[in-house]
Amino acid sequence: MDLSNKIVWITGASSGIGRGLALECARQGATLMLTARREEELEATRAACERSDDHRCMIHDVTDRPAHKRVMQAILDTWGRLDMVVLNAGIGQRGSIEETDPDVERRIMEVNYFGYTEIAHEVLPHFLDRNDGHFAVISSVMGKLSTPRRATYAASKHALHGFFEGLRAELSNTRIGVSMICPGYIKTEISYHSVKGSGQTHGAMDEQHQNAMSSEVFARKAVKALKKKKAVAFIGGPERFGPILERLSPALVRWLLPRLITRD
Ligand SMILES: NC(=O)c1ccc[n+]([C@@H]2O[C@H](COP(=O)([O-])OP(=O)(O)OC[C@H]3O[C@@H](n4cnc5c(N)ncnc54)[C@H](OP(=O)(O)O)[C@@H]3O)[C@@H](O)[C@H]2O)c1
Repeated sequence: MDLSNKIVWITGASSGIGRGLALECARQGATLMLTARREEELEATRAACERSDDHRCMIHDVTDRPAHKRVMQAILDTWGRLDMVVLNAGIGQRGSIEETDPDVERRIMEVNYFGYTEIAHEVLPHFLDRNDGHFAVISSVMGKLSTPRRATYAASKHALHGFFEGLRAELSNTRIGVSMICPGYIKTEISYHSVKGSGQTHGAMDEQHQNAMSSEVFARKAVKALKKKKAVAFIGGPERFGPILERLSPALVRWLLPRLITRD
């Protein structure tokens, strides 16, 4: 897939991976609809993109279902079509199941699962009408593994694989594609914004993220995978091999995971 002249909607474009993907997609010639809740940060992403005047920003909360229609309508009014949606907006988790309020678990699912699937429902009829389009789903290595203090986050990402791999199978006779992009640790604001068991934000940068791959390097690799319409891509440091190791030696991974991540 050549991204030049493609119309791309990126959710969660105000920071981290979404911002990195916006810069890289613009560099490759795409025209962007950038959405998130924080207006200033979103505008800063747009301003940093090549051909910044070509792109649009809209304030949008992925848990506000009627808002998806408004964004889609704005895309069609402005450019007449959408070629790719990058489902990226998400929140992390810091807390054991024992200390996590079930309302917080529901909130994580609202953002990380329904915040993807409900947008997919909005976009799908348009892709079907054109028999063209691409779903870029930002999942996680945690979409294939689960660790202590991240159980609901991992569940939300596992659920994305169930939904979008089913969608890919349903679309097998069309020209519409689905790519599951699974980052390992990437240096973004995710740990700051992660929710604790009480619902408060963690508000600190974890060591794992501090020393991780930059969002710029991640975005270059992710866009390369999207251009090849890869079904699945694991991108990050050595942790990206976790799911393969789990296939080869599940008992070893069951032993390792509680030892690797025990603190916040
Ligand atoms: N960084 C990593 O190590 C890593 C690893 C695996 C997967 N991921 C995934 O990558 C994606 C992006 O995370 P990130 O690392 O870039 O973290 P980040 O820097 O915290 O960015 C999260 C983005 O999601 C947006 N967002 C959060 N809640 C939202 C809501 N209700 N409505 C609309 N937008 C919302 C935020 O924008 P506003 O606050 O402005 O709304 C922000 O732009 C997430 O799905 C995450 O699970 C990250």
